[in-house]
This record gives sequence, C-alpha cells and structure tokens, in this order.
Amino acid sequence: MVVYHADRAAHLREDLVATLVQAGVLAEGPWAEAFRQVPRHVFVPRLFVPAPRGGWVAVGADHPDFLSLVYRDDVCVTQLNGSEAAWEQAAADGVVHGVPTSSSSMPTIMAVMLAALDARPGDTVLEIGTGTGYNAALLAHVLGDGAVTSVDVDPDVHARAVRALAEVGRHPRCVVGDGERGVPEHAPYRRVLGTCAVSRLPPAWPAQAEPGGVVVTTLNRPLGAGLLRLVVRDGAATGRVLREDGRFMPLRAHRQAWADEALHRARRAPAAITRPTPLPARTALDPLSGFEFFAGLALPGVAVGLDPVRLVHPDGSWVRHRGAVVDEGGPRRLWALAEDAHRRWRSLGRPRRHRFAFTATAARQWFALDGSELTWDL
Ligand SMILES: C[S@@+](CC[C@H](N)C(=O)[O-])C[C@H]1O[C@@H](n2cnc3c(N)ncnc32)[C@H](O)[C@@H]1O
Repeated sequence: MVVYHADRAAHLREDLVATLVQAGVLAEGPWAEAFRQVPRHVFVPRLFVPAPRGGWVAVGADHPDFLSLVYRDDVCVTQLNGSEAAWEQAAADGVVHGVPTSSSSMPTIMAVMLAALDARPGDTVLEIGTGTGYNAALLAHVLGDGAVTSVDVDPDVHARAVRALAEVGRHPRCVVGDGERGVPEHAPYRRVLGTCAVSRLPPAWPAQAEPGGVVVTTLNRPLGAGLLRLVVRDGAATGRVLREDGRFMPLRAHRQAWADEALHRARRAPAAITRPTPLPARTALDPLSGFEFFAGLALPGVAVGLDPVRLVHPDGSWVRHRGAVVDEGGPRRLWALAEDAHRRWRSLGRPRRHRFAFTATAARQWFALDGSELTWDL
C-alpha cells in the first residue's frame, strides 16, 4: 500500500503556487487557493516520463520521485495511444513507445488559460477534455460543482477522472462524448475552455456560449500554435492570440494522421533542389522565436519533424533543413516561402503573436494583424 505524505504534497503544492506566482502567470486569489488545495496526485496516480533514449517509462505512486514529478510545473502524461494498458506494459517492459493521448496539462498553461477565462462565481463553464479531472476540480473548487460541465471522448479517461473527483469530494457534471459538438444538453455556458487543441474553432463552442461569453482554447498548429481568448457576440467569436504560448495534444479528430508517413519519407527523399539558406531552422520553428507565429501564418497546414528538421505539407511539398543548406521537393518550395515570410515579417516591424486578432464566423475563420488590413484565413 502506498502511504502519501500529505504534508509533503501540501508543501510541494505551496512551492508550485509560489513558482507560478513568481513567474507572473498566477495571481494570489481564488485560483491560487485552488492550486494550493486540490491534490494533483489524486488525479495523476501514475504517469509516464520520457525515457532518455526515446519512449516512455512508467512512474507509479511507489516511485521515490513520484510526488516531486507530479508537482513539477510540467505536463504529466497519463495515457499513450488511447490505451489504458500501456502503463502496465511500460512498468513490466521498462520502456514503451507511443503518442500521448491524455495528460494533466502544464500548470503554467492551466493558470494562463484560467486567468484568460476569467470565470467568476455564478458563471457556468464547459470544459472540453476532462483528462485527469484535475482542471475540472480546480474549476469546481472555485465555481462550485453545479457550475462545471466537462466532456472527454474516452470512456476510460472519463471513468478515472470521475473516480478521482469523487475522491476529493467533487462532483462536477462529467460526460463522455465528442467535445467538438460541445455539450448542447446543458448549454448555454458563460465560459468555454478547450483543453485539447483544435485546428479550427468548432462552431458548437461559440454557439453554446451565452452572448458576451468567453471561449479560451489552443490551436493545433505545429507551427504558430497559439492560445486564443474570444468573446462571443452576434454569431461571431472575436478576440486575440495571447502573448503566452500554449501547446496541447489535439482533439482526437484534429490529429495530423497523414504527417507521420510524410515526415518519414522526407528523411531520405531525393531533393529537387539543394541550396544554401540564410534562415536558421530555429528562427522559424522555435516557439520562443518572435517569428514562429508568423511562419505558421505563411505555412498553414505543415507538419514538423526534428532530427533532422523537416517540414511537410499534405500537397507533397517537403523541406529538409541541414544547417546552412536545405533540400526541398514536391510542388512548392516550403523553405523559400518561410524565407519570404521572414523578410515580410521584418518589414512589418517583427510583430509577435499577441499582435494578431482572431475572428470566427459561421462562414470564415481568420487572423488579422493589428493596425493593418492584412488577414490570413485559417
Ligand atoms: C490535455 S488532456 C486535458 C487535460 C485535462 N483538462 C486535465 O486537467 O487533466 C486532453 C484530453 O482531451 C481529450 N479529447 C481528445 N479528443 C477529444 C474530443 N473529440 N472530445 C472530448 N475530449 C477529447 C483526450 O481524451 C484527453 O483526455
């Protein structure tokens, strides 16, 4: 039997809150108090951590570092490949390989999204992606069980979350379903929070928000992902890309399933053209680079691979970046587009992500650069 050291867990929570407050992503107040009170380890009773040579290692509650891993400001991966059996397999075999399909998100991103959501007592919230139930517990802690509806597509994930929520005495409404549809039965909501990333804003989300309601979500874009905060009015959702970056696992139907094969081919494909480039890969690909968001606007639909750096597009275009030299193939020269975009970005005064507005109507979804006529369709 595992004996938790409640004092140690409380101490680690206090440290986590101090880290988030110091970083300026969490203000003292009800949400900080929720992070102090809600025990994340109940929602993450076991997790996967990256193995040094690739793949994932199972960490359970009897691991000496369990509590410190759970209370780091980091994502805790809790499911791979949509399978509940992967953890036991990793525990038995040492390492498993797979794609994360459920997790408890990084506390910094959770705090940023909760601040952007700006939900107050009296507000109702729809969360898409119940996951471990930890965020639903934070929401229910501040707003009350009756205010929170949360949906996950995976019945096993849902069942585990409901158990953990009950263990901490919380009973928000949790349902199994495709969150892309929202949860119309209990709409409208004052706030909608997407905790899995979407390629486009699902129309059901603003449709199920009250007038003046707020939608916060992340965009599923390997290049130029972003956190969006939108206000719903007169059939449109309008708002901004937030200054903070946020990357989430995609809504299942929004996964770029074609990309694995294309990225694999681009490792060795013979190049149509090989040439020097002045644009380092990290300038376009590193989320900390000021250009990365703009690169995403110039190269919609691309997927990214590393070691070596590759970009691929469903139209068959690809680039392999080898330091000072690039190999390109397919119908379009993707890296030439990135280089053009970099010149344009500099001529526009190097606008960073939070200078972009976002609008979604029934007919169209697009970004616009502040103080200009420039728009980019999603
Ligand atoms: C990053 S996790 C959410 C984290 C969660 N809010 C928490 O606090 O632990 C993303 C979740 O989205 C769920 N998901 C993926 N596609 C979905 C869909 N179409 N509808 C609802 N949930 C979905 C996954 O099963 C996964 O549990």
